[in-house]
Amino acid sequence: MNILLIGSGGRESAFAYKIAQSPLTTQLFIAPGNAGTTQYGKNVALKVTDFEGIGALCLKEGIDLVLVGPEEPLVKGIHDYFLNNEKLKSIPVIGPQQAGAQLEGSKDFSKQFMQRHGIPTAAYATFTKDSLDEGLAYLETQSLPIVLKADGLAAGKGVLICTTLEEAKEELKAMLTDAKFGEASSRVVIEQFLKGIELSVFVLTDGISYKLLPSAKDYKRIGEGDTGLNTGGMGSVSPVPFADQTFLDKVESRIVRPTIEGLKEDGIPYKGFIFIGLMNTAGEPYVIEYNVRMGDPETESVLPRIESDFVDLLLGVAQGNLADKTLQISQKTAATVMLVSGGYPGHYENGMPISGLENIKESTVFHAGTVQDGDEVKTAGGRVLAVTALKDTLFDALQQATADAGRVFFKGKAFRRDIGFDLID
Ligand code: AMP
Ligand code: GLY
Repeated sequence: MNILLIGSGGRESAFAYKIAQSPLTTQLFIAPGNAGTTQYGKNVALKVTDFEGIGALCLKEGIDLVLVGPEEPLVKGIHDYFLNNEKLKSIPVIGPQQAGAQLEGSKDFSKQFMQRHGIPTAAYATFTKDSLDEGLAYLETQSLPIVLKADGLAAGKGVLICTTLEEAKEELKAMLTDAKFGEASSRVVIEQFLKGIELSVFVLTDGISYKLLPSAKDYKRIGEGDTGLNTGGMGSVSPVPFADQTFLDKVESRIVRPTIEGLKEDGIPYKGFIFIGLMNTAGEPYVIEYNVRMGDPETESVLPRIESDFVDLLLGVAQGNLADKTLQISQKTAATVMLVSGGYPGHYENGMPISGLENIKESTVFHAGTVQDGDEVKTAGGRVLAVTALKDTLFDALQQATADAGRVFFKGKAFRRDIGFDLID
């Protein structure tokens, strides 16, 4: 099979790594990819939202299956674009159509969906510019801290946790009347704050049945000890030690199954990944958010643990017979440490030459923000490389990934040396 993978980050490098391992793969194309994805396939310089260009590439190269990595093309309707085009509609796309992508594209939609289907989540109310006064009055009745969320996609920045009533009121006004997050905050979800510890579970579905993929935990803050600004993710581990079978059984029965059944009841077709961000509050799971894609850097820890043929699983999604496929998961633990550019998540410089990649022998390096420039690999993004180690114990995986993170060099390189160590007793 010829496969086209859309995206350019660490998540896509991990996808490419798995796809290239499959005997079912003839040729892999990555649009646009990065310096690392060329180990696994051919990069094609196309933007992830250039649907026409992507469609033309599929016809030219005889693509049999498209896997979409990031949310933006899904929320913008790449799957619908294929279905509405006579020449492209027979090419299966892994990733939901626009209707399903709303689970990530609109917080209000996803909250309504959870409420409709009895899925545990924080209490909430939604307001617009026209109902600002009601929103301000609602805030008065709520306990602190309180969570304000821009309804639409806001590049991961649209969630504010306010600790005083004054701050919450100011932020609500800024979001609704001053368009703090642009169109994304024309609607704001005000949500109860959930206490607990976060983790994520991942589901692959063909819209009929589903497979529960390994759980993972990511580390969002830039600084050690979970301090400083939020980032896209500085590292991850899989599995998550505190997500024991009892907890995962609750997640499956109260959240995963009702989500798949809810999509069916609502008549929303869904073929792809569902990333469920969870809060474990005293042993009970609550949904914080849905994403309609895999996580980054969670994918870099989750995929190395999948022992079954990944392309065969994708085929099951495409053909609607996922229930007949087997999912074999390694008992080992994966730990991922992300190397980022100096200054990230604020301002940073691109174009720093990267050296020492050949020093890494025991971990797998997934490129995230890199570019090939002649003979050199250079930085081209905030998150540059993801270093993943797979070992028998969490401690060994963390130690290996952290040690290997120190073996690569580029000017300004930063990484957290404490990823996952909070999970060791
Ligand atoms: P989201 O974009 O919805 O994932 O939110 C970003 C982050 O905000 C989450 O990963 C949580 O750390 C935090 N967060 C979101 N909603 C809540 C909530 N209801 N209670 C506590 N923390 C939250
Ligand atoms: N690591 C969080 C995300 O992919 O959204």
